[in-house]
Amino acid sequence: KVNRRQFIILSTASAVTASVASIAFAQNNRNPFKTQALSPKLYKSAGGLLKLDLETSSRPISLGGKRAYLLGYNGQVPAPRLEAQAGDTVRIRFTNNLTQPTNLHYHGLHVTPVGNADNAFLDIPPKESLTYEFTIPKNHPSGTFWYHPHRHGYVAEQVFAGLAGLFIIRGELDEILEIQAAKEEFLVLQDFALDRNGSIQSPNHMDMMMGREGELLTVNGQIKPTFSIASGGLLRLRFLNASPSRFYRLALENHPFYLIATDGGALAEPVELKELLLAPGERAEMLVRGEREPKQYRLLNLPYNRGGMEMMEDEMGMMGGGSSHMMGGKSQVNPQILATLTYQGSTSTLPLPKQLIPVETLPEPKTVRRLELSMEEEMTPGTGMSFTFNGKAFDPNRINTQVKLNTVEDWELVNVDPDRMDHPFHLHVNPFQVISRNGEPEPYRAWKDTILVRGGETVRIRIPFRDFSGKTVYHCHVLDHEDLGMMGIVNIRA
Ligand code: C2O
Ligand code: CU
Repeated sequence: KVNRRQFIILSTASAVTASVASIAFAQNNRNPFKTQALSPKLYKSAGGLLKLDLETSSRPISLGGKRAYLLGYNGQVPAPRLEAQAGDTVRIRFTNNLTQPTNLHYHGLHVTPVGNADNAFLDIPPKESLTYEFTIPKNHPSGTFWYHPHRHGYVAEQVFAGLAGLFIIRGELDEILEIQAAKEEFLVLQDFALDRNGSIQSPNHMDMMMGREGELLTVNGQIKPTFSIASGGLLRLRFLNASPSRFYRLALENHPFYLIATDGGALAEPVELKELLLAPGERAEMLVRGEREPKQYRLLNLPYNRGGMEMMEDEMGMMGGGSSHMMGGKSQVNPQILATLTYQGSTSTLPLPKQLIPVETLPEPKTVRRLELSMEEEMTPGTGMSFTFNGKAFDPNRINTQVKLNTVEDWELVNVDPDRMDHPFHLHVNPFQVISRNGEPEPYRAWKDTILVRGGETVRIRIPFRDFSGKTVYHCHVLDHEDLGMMGIVNIRA
């Protein structure tokens, strides 16, 4: 056991040096990146097959008009957008051109976790290739899914370098008339920490403990892009938080927006929101109506405290350091502008849809489990902390949870973190519904695959295990936490 104060003090010196450099960089180059149109290549399925070649590479990438030494899929950040439909077969010939192992995870898709499909245990060494092939079930919901690397130990580093792309399933939500009429935009949110040369800054121990963040906020690889609302005045925004650790608290300045879909697909009806909190890994679809005045709405990222910082700041303060030296936006106090929506038409003529897609009512569960998420002060090499589920750090040879195929279970996710740091919980392959938060029922029913569990909170989720047996994982989607051990294996037995 190591004393927390000792650990913090040990890591403070390097935290301050690294962050002073990054602040100087930001001040000298107020806005060194210019906005540049960048549309990732689109691959659509045809004749029931989505077929493409995908390779990782570490070539320099143009990020907002400047060279950045990121990692890309087919040289792009964000990665190419893939689009398929329920019933399609997906075949991806994947080549790893990195100098470290990697693999692919199809985040949120309800497909098999075994073989060359959404298998988090696959390892693709440098210079090797693998062909992924799986079929999307005929009854798969339409929605906003995504893909990113999932090789344990490298996930945060590779995602922070830019490896992430959208995987869209087209279907029933797209066919609703009002939705069809809306203009569709995809917004992939990524943050980067670059040095003067455009290389990614390496995180120190504290960044890893908190989860690494960068000061450069991008939307589709652009800085503060503008989206126009077409005539008719209805805009459909499809958000993905592809940052490894950053939370986005999104709001449209002086304007409401309407939630129509969450991670796993459509809601039963639009829900008006003043703001939308997107934890790492989460997606959401919003509708925006263009009104006569104002003709421009800024998309803001409001300050959000994801916990754990007070303790850090106290410790830093005692050192005479001061919290403002932290790397990344952890001490963000002002709203940041992510993008601007401009409206040209005379007035909004398109109505909002009244009804979307009914969301299934799940039967009462036979089994209720408790999963404790915790960050403990224990000596693990390099961190001084351990990140666990029910006190156990990830072990690829241990099954943490056994479930039976074709059963419904409730899991109580309990964040027992004494420092009250948020953990977004993600389960592969099996989407779920949130039943309650600290005993309070959720205001509306929705399909999720990643759910925020705040410090001290208990979130109850209901999971139908169906269609696919085999081993898969659940983990914290602050990807440094996952790499440091906050991941468990669930085995679904037929
Ligand atoms: Cu998006 Cu297991 O992750
Ligand atoms: Cu976490």
